[in-house]
Amino acid sequence: MNDQVLSRLRQDHDNLRPLLRVLDQQLECIEANGDADYVLMADILDYLVRKPEQYHHPFEERLGQRLLAREPAAADAVSRIRAQHHRLTRLGKRLQRRLDEIAADSLVSRTRFVRLAHAYVRLYETHLDDEERELFPALDNTLAAADWIEATTAFQWTLDPAFTADNAADHRDLRDRIELALKVQLPQSGTGFCPLCAP
Ligand SMILES: [Fe+2]
Ligand SMILES: [Fe+2]
Repeated sequence: MNDQVLSRLRQDHDNLRPLLRVLDQQLECIEANGDADYVLMADILDYLVRKPEQYHHPFEERLGQRLLAREPAAADAVSRIRAQHHRLTRLGKRLQRRLDEIAADSLVSRTRFVRLAHAYVRLYETHLDDEERELFPALDNTLAAADWIEATTAFQWTLDPAFTADNAADHRDLRDRIELALKVQLPQSGTGFCPLCAP
C-alpha cells in the first residue's frame, strides 16, 4: 500500500508543477511587458491554494503524525512540512487578494506583486522537493502497514467526491489552458485521484 499511496502523492506533485511553471511564465510576461493573463493566474492560484488543502496537505499531515509516533527524531521534518503548508496557504491567499485588487483596477505595485508571487512559486517548489526528498522516504522506511491503512481509510481515499472523475470536468478548462501555455500534453492518470487528470 505504501508504494501506491506515495506514488499518488507524487502524482499530485507532478500535476502541481506545470501550474507553477505557467505562473512563472506569467510573471515573466509582467516583467517583460507589464501585463499578463491575470484570469489564468487567478484560476491557477485558486487551484494551488484550495485543492491541496482539501485533501493532499491534511493527508500528508496525518501521515506525518503516524511517523512522529514511530520516530520522534522526525519531529523537525514533520513540523517543517506543516509550517510550509501554513505559509503556502497564507501567502497564496495574500496573492489572491492582490490579484483581486489588480482586477479591480486598483493601484497595486506590479513589482511588489511579482516579488511576492516569485516567493510563492519558490516556496511551493521547495516544499514539493522537501517532501519527496525527506518526508516520503521517511514514511516509506518507518510506517507500518497499519499506519497506511489508518491514514488512508480516515480520508476515505477512494470516496472523496472532490477527486472523482465527474469533478475532473470542473478543471478541464484550466487543464486545456495549461497545456496551451506550456505546449505540452499533461499526463492522464485515469485514477480519478486528481481533478486535473481527466478520466
Ligand atoms: Fe505538502
Ligand atoms: Fe505534497
